[in-house]
Amino acid sequence: MTDIAFEDKHLTLEEGETVLDTLLRAGYDIPNGCRAGICQSCIMKSDASEEIAHAQVGLSDAQKTLKYFLSCRCLPSSKINVQRISLSSQQTNAEVIDVSMLNETVIRLRLKASIDYHAGQYLTLWKDGRIARCYSLASHPTLNDYLELHVKYIKGGEFSAWLRSDVRVGDIMKIQGPFGKCIYAGEKEQPLLLLAIGTGLSPIFGILQDAIAKKHQGKIHIVVGARSKENFYLVEELQKIAAQNKSISLTYIYQEETNTDTITAQNNTDFASKGDIYQYCKERFDNLKGYRVFICGAESFCKKMRKQCFLEGADMNAISVDSFISFTEEKTEG
Ligand SMILES: Cc1cc2nc3c(=O)[nH]c(=O)nc-3n(C[C@H](O)[C@H](O)[C@H](O)COP(=O)(O)OP(=O)(O)OC[C@H]3O[C@@H](n4cnc5c(N)ncnc54)[C@H](O)[C@@H]3O)c2cc1C
Ligand code: FES
Repeated sequence: MTDIAFEDKHLTLEEGETVLDTLLRAGYDIPNGCRAGICQSCIMKSDASEEIAHAQVGLSDAQKTLKYFLSCRCLPSSKINVQRISLSSQQTNAEVIDVSMLNETVIRLRLKASIDYHAGQYLTLWKDGRIARCYSLASHPTLNDYLELHVKYIKGGEFSAWLRSDVRVGDIMKIQGPFGKCIYAGEKEQPLLLLAIGTGLSPIFGILQDAIAKKHQGKIHIVVGARSKENFYLVEELQKIAAQNKSISLTYIYQEETNTDTITAQNNTDFASKGDIYQYCKERFDNLKGYRVFICGAESFCKKMRKQCFLEGADMNAISVDSFISFTEEKTEG
């Protein structure tokens, strides 16, 4: 067991506790989101360079030089001093320019902000300076003059329910980032396999736009999965892109029928097939040697699909994943 010194207090870390856990247990209001080293909302500072090095993964060189670290990842082995930092130095103001529904459950958020990013990266969005959540970018840095994010509405969800009911055009939102390495890196000749479940389509849409903009030469296979047909969105947009480009194949797979057989976003009823996305991919892509694979969406989907693609021959280094982990364990796909 070791101690941390924080705001004139000495606190003892319990076995296996991170710096963040200890501060929260002691009643301090420390901003946090993913608690998995992904959102950077829990960033703090310490002079104990060696003790915080393991908690600096994903930080920029500038952040490391300033001795910043992620308190949710930090398990010091000897006593360290810990300080808050001004989060505003890590955040950018973004103006809401559109907040609308793409289907029954997917909210499209468009923001105006000056940041440099790669298509497929994600941002941390803040609610009231306290709640931080990560969302992946569907927009493209040169094709679009706004940031676009697709947020699945979750009843009672701290961020998504607030976004749907309270956020209005003209509001200013704090954002952090961009983060993440699930990006197209110009593998022009390689066949691409783009796999999305639910709002995993958001980064996949960005990556697809980037591959086309960079004149990708190889085939591009897109497979989009959802729980039911109503959950698909951007169908017409994707169909249009596929129709304009012979090297793109587009497949929609849904898990279960719903009572009505209507599709809210479009009139075309044949675009999707009922089935198991894992089984479909296993049969359709039984040799992924030489492929570049992108897998985006719910954590369970990403984990299972990554393993499957590896077993089907894809090189682990050629598989990029944007896994929508959430702090709470209970979650669904689609
Ligand atoms: C790198 C990264 C990128 C992400 N990108 C996106 C994105 O582009 N679009 C997007 O919609 N989400 C994305 N997420 C997930 C997002 O950050 C939030 O976890 C999610 O929106 C839930 O936040 P909330 O505050 O609305 O719900 P919370 O208040 O956090 O959760 C409320 C309840 O809903 C459950 N829950 C959490 N997630 C889901 C889910 N997906 N389905 C059903 N129940 C759930 C929780 O277990 C909890 O019980 C991403 C996550 C990460 C880490
Ligand atoms: S990185 Fe620490 S809470 Fe997200």
